[in-house]
Amino acid sequence: MLIRTATMEDLDAITLAEAESFPLAEAATRAEFAERLTHYRDHFWLMFDRDRLIAFVDGFVTDEPDLTDEMYAKAELHNEAGRWQMIFGVVTVPDYRQHGYAGQLLRQAIQTAKEQGRAGLVLTCKDYLVNYYSKFGFVSEGVTKKSTHGGEVWNQMRLTF
Ligand SMILES: CC(C)(COP(=O)(O)OP(=O)(O)OC[C@H]1O[C@@H](n2cnc3c(N)ncnc32)[C@H](O)[C@@H]1OP(=O)(O)O)[C@@H](O)C(=O)NCCC(=O)NCCS
Repeated sequence: MLIRTATMEDLDAITLAEAESFPLAEAATRAEFAERLTHYRDHFWLMFDRDRLIAFVDGFVTDEPDLTDEMYAKAELHNEAGRWQMIFGVVTVPDYRQHGYAGQLLRQAIQTAKEQGRAGLVLTCKDYLVNYYSKFGFVSEGVTKKSTHGGEVWNQMRLTF
């Protein structure tokens, strides 16, 4: 499987993979991904099976230590010199799940953040994925008050180098 960062050419494939993987209320839209690719395409990690996008991880960089809903919507808040690599999306399309692909991309994102001298990575997730992310070194900080994305309850998790 090929892993690479994104270009604007990947916009449709990313939007499709997201729509296949999240409920409508949680899925980022094509317009939101266009903004994200404009501001931080190098903070997308894409995995391809031949020419098919099968998984991706994305998120911007900021000095803010906590992930907020505003960050999902405002890609322009990306700060290339920031301390924390946020993770906004972790997606594997349904027929490629349970093969470790999301894990490979998370490890790539972690390695890149380390090489770039970040303080660490921050994500939010539902209860059932807390154990999954803890395998990569993320530590749960409990339910966050700063995100109610999609009307859901989110745990914030942090990996500090
Ligand atoms: C969550 C999600 C990204 C996981 O993607 P994935 O590529 O299946 O993830 P992985 O294969 O790395 O890990 C999933 C499970 O497969 C297991 N696994 C890893 N490698 C495996 C392999 N070679 N064979 C079988 N199972 C494997 C992992 O141990 C993990 O099991 P666990 O949940 O018991 O820890 C995917 O299910 C998805 O896109 N869901 C919808 C969107 C979503 O909710 N994203 C998370 C937002 S916070």
